[in-house]
Amino acid sequence: MANVARGNWNSRFGFILAAAGSAIGLGNIWRFPYTAGEYGGGAFVLLYLIFVIVIGVPVLLSELAIGRHTQQSPVSAFKKLVPNSKWWIVGFLGVLAGFGILSFYAVIAGLTVGYAYLAMKGTFSGEIDAAKSAEIFGQITGNPVWMIGLLALFMLLTILVVRRGISGGIEKTARLLMPVLLAFLVLLVVRALTLPGAGEGLAFMFSPDFSKLTLDGVVSALGQALFSLSIGMGAMITYGSYLPKDENIPVSTVSVAMFDTGIALLGGLIIFPTLFTAGADPAAGPGLIFVVMASIFNTLPLGNLVAVGFYVLLSIAALTSTISLLEVIVAYFVDERGWSREKSTWTVGLTCFALGVPSALALGANTFLSSEFHVFGQSDFLSVVDLVCGTYFLTIGAALICLFVGWKWGTAAALEAIEGGGHRLPLAPIWKVLVSFICPLAVASLLVYAIANGGGVW
Ligand code: TRP
Repeated sequence: MANVARGNWNSRFGFILAAAGSAIGLGNIWRFPYTAGEYGGGAFVLLYLIFVIVIGVPVLLSELAIGRHTQQSPVSAFKKLVPNSKWWIVGFLGVLAGFGILSFYAVIAGLTVGYAYLAMKGTFSGEIDAAKSAEIFGQITGNPVWMIGLLALFMLLTILVVRRGISGGIEKTARLLMPVLLAFLVLLVVRALTLPGAGEGLAFMFSPDFSKLTLDGVVSALGQALFSLSIGMGAMITYGSYLPKDENIPVSTVSVAMFDTGIALLGGLIIFPTLFTAGADPAAGPGLIFVVMASIFNTLPLGNLVAVGFYVLLSIAALTSTISLLEVIVAYFVDERGWSREKSTWTVGLTCFALGVPSALALGANTFLSSEFHVFGQSDFLSVVDLVCGTYFLTIGAALICLFVGWKWGTAAALEAIEGGGHRLPLAPIWKVLVSFICPLAVASLLVYAIANGGGVW
């Protein structure tokens, strides 16, 4: 049933590109390699893959089913499925998470644009050692005009896409950008795999050394699986709500999950061979792709071109993700408050920009929002917002979505919704067990562990 007022995807392929575009982002190319690097490589990667299959896929399937069945964004979707209950709060939590995640995510995204600009200027082609690279990072992050400007630029780009709606804005942009992203990615992977350190990089990524895997690492692998697939806050409910009733949900789910996971692995195939070739430390943390990578491009043949490709790739991946984050909140105001898409997009976008300003100032060394700021064991404002919205809200959301499907809506009704278009769900009994028991338990234990440890997880 076409819903003209809300909008619809034009084609299945366009939807898959848009959903994959949401999933593929800084999570794959920035966060996945540095987290895998911190927890010793192979064992972390293996666990992440297991979590994607056992927890990510069932939750993604559930979100798409809720959205497609109700044709509503999260808050309205829960209201429609169980009227007169409090389940809509799960959707509302997602809206709040969206505000928070977008506010800091757009800061990092803006920084990738800044680095792409520096790369184009040839900044990374000269002699740059680790200290010089850290100095460049410090200069940009310590300059409020740059940081707020880049944040504003990125939010503006996101707004300009989302205001044009589902097929004319989000789908069209994904169709244009995803092939570009793939092309850059393949080029960079080929470049990385032909470097002398490729063997070492591959070994680091794929030979599991379980002695390096702490409980923290297990938790981070699960968190990474949720964040990377864009699940736990209703983004996939929202994207699913623009699907026609006869869409093949099982195939869409598996395509998006495989696309996202494949690109995370390719991200690793770019970063680790490059790092090992330059003798850099894979456990350098969140600054890895900025400080460490920027200091080694000049040691590579065609290094400056590689640098431009790398940061442009990141900017593109980030844009298709910020679009999905903004869309969740915009859809809430459209569906629940009856606002026009135009009004909703600008209002929400500008609010997120304002919320992002403290995060934009937090990466510089000299503001009160950075190093001296201690909340939840985090040392800067951006990390606190990431932890609260990107970890706590997402894990709570994912657990509640599973409980909802398993115990409130019921797996029988949910399965009917999934298979509504006439496409059978293979392994349906396994999905039922996963969504009712395994996922809520695993995700809830992640949450308890995260809180008990004062948020040392992310
Ligand atoms: N998945 C994206 C990434 O890996 C980030 C993202 C976009 C996201 N939309 C989301 C995360 C919704 C959680 C929920 O970079």
